[in-house]
Amino acid sequence: MFSRLFELDPALLSLFHYSTNCDSKQDCLSSPEFLDHVTKVMLVIDAAVNHLDDLHSLEDFLLNLGRKHQAVGVSTQSFTVVGESLLYMLQCSLGQAYTAPLRQAWLNMYSIVVGVMSRGWSK
Ligand code: HEM
Repeated sequence: MFSRLFELDPALLSLFHYSTNCDSKQDCLSSPEFLDHVTKVMLVIDAAVNHLDDLHSLEDFLLNLGRKHQAVGVSTQSFTVVGESLLYMLQCSLGQAYTAPLRQAWLNMYSIVVGVMSRGWSK
């Protein structure tokens, strides 16, 4: 997912402050700090999947998470590219099981999550 993200928008890599210690993109993608962030993203997605019926219970957490991303220089538009990368990863992993309704269901869930995160941005 993140390899795809940095193919689509290489500039995002520099927002991870620890990326300056890496000699190459591949080096960076496999660094422990970077892999920690991947785990953090997946834990948020996992929490959203587990709270599909009461996503509002994650609201405060997601608003705060949005604020943290604004502080590290992420723009709300970048979340669209993350969404494309998530769908790309699902398509590659699921093959034939990646159907149009499944794609739509993931897109709906992801849009709600990043929609709330984006509301955390202060103008
Ligand atoms: C923290 C960058 C997308 C979840 C961070 C940090 C950076 C960052 C630099 C702080 C350092 C670190 O913990 O590694 C980005 C960039 C993104 C992105 C450039 C894409 C544009 C996401 C998404 C999610 C997410 C989509 C979840 C849906 C988290 C979490 C933390 C974090 C849970 C830890 C916050 C904390 O310390 O409380 N992110 N992020 N990130 N990110 Fe992201």
